[in-house]
Amino acid sequence: MIESERASFFSVSLQLILVNQPLPYDLFVNSSAVSEKERFVRIFPSGETLNLDDLKKFKAKYFQLYIPEKQRNQYLKSLVNNENATDMQKTEVIKESAIGYLDTLFDQNKEFSTEELKESVQGCRDSVESMVDVLQDHDISSIQKLIGDLSFHDFYTYDHSINVSMYNMAILKSLNPNARRRDLVEIGLGGLLHDLGKLKIPIHIINNPGKLSDGDFDEIKKHPQHGVDLFDSAGEAVSDLDLNLVRKIILEHHENYNGTGYPNKVGSDKIHLFARVTAIADFFDALTTKRSYHEVVSTKKALEIMAQSKGKKIDPTIFDKFVKVINDIIPHKLKSLIELPDDFDPCQPQENLPFMPVKASAEEKENFGKIKVGFTAKAEDKKTLFKKDKKKAS
Ligand SMILES: [Fe+2]
Ligand SMILES: [Fe+2]
Repeated sequence: MIESERASFFSVSLQLILVNQPLPYDLFVNSSAVSEKERFVRIFPSGETLNLDDLKKFKAKYFQLYIPEKQRNQYLKSLVNNENATDMQKTEVIKESAIGYLDTLFDQNKEFSTEELKESVQGCRDSVESMVDVLQDHDISSIQKLIGDLSFHDFYTYDHSINVSMYNMAILKSLNPNARRRDLVEIGLGGLLHDLGKLKIPIHIINNPGKLSDGDFDEIKKHPQHGVDLFDSAGEAVSDLDLNLVRKIILEHHENYNGTGYPNKVGSDKIHLFARVTAIADFFDALTTKRSYHEVVSTKKALEIMAQSKGKKIDPTIFDKFVKVINDIIPHKLKSLIELPDDFDPCQPQENLPFMPVKASAEEKENFGKIKVGFTAKAEDKKTLFKKDKKKAS
């Protein structure tokens, strides 16, 4: 019999336990009926093979199974190869695991030791490795669908970081179908940790879904550098990766393409490619993913709004490629009457997206209200207009 604190075990769904192969982890149950006083007892040892009958018996007998936290990575790896689990189920488990690590990272009530920070960064990397395996056949659109189907957490930063990580990998693959696994892991890990520095910012500012005061915004602007400092102190845990790429994502994800971003106001290709990809993933997720705050906009609308920021906030070439892959829309045909300000912050939860009317160009102003010579509305258009007018009148 082994007793331990609850924190040393994590619960698993019985449906996702590996069968007919040697199990790479131990299975436990909680034999205590008293909450807060769990007593974990091993019911199946690693190395033995569990068959479907055994699993059925477990299902009839136990409500919940547990695996020791130190075997989490073995569990994730076996899950990725488990043919009985769907990609959705796998992603949900990987997401939960990543949330566990992010939750440790963002726990502001706790002073961190460098060791704990390293463990969490290593855990995030393991989660990203599993994501690379599960998502290898998915493109941007199917990842968007997957993200929409995943359950979401109360803390914006967790869901958002995981989504940005997934989009980052998909965008990089669309830019370079032969991207190396290592690149995918680096851009995925950078996405997952892009807001790491927020753990140094007071929680009431991070969770504020309304308009921030100038003072609070100045605080927020410090998070890229805080993130790099934290990552530098823990990067050793993943030192086989190119740490500089992950650093660049953390440091530069709020730099704007036209040089108006923060913290260093660098622009165009002075911003690392991976950080420019992250800015697009960041923006797209903020507009399209369901939140407890604002309603989402459709994919097409999101692309139209993002197109207004082409060359200002985001890299126009990467964006055009992104648009083509996602919806086969011709990028220059994306037009919108509304846009978001240059300082729109996709990393913050938003109560209402701060849309504003697109400023008209000098030519548009000049032609405003004038009849365009040679313009004749199609019969169909006229009908629609007429119907709308009738509706208004009634
Ligand atoms: Fe950020
Ligand atoms: Fe973000």
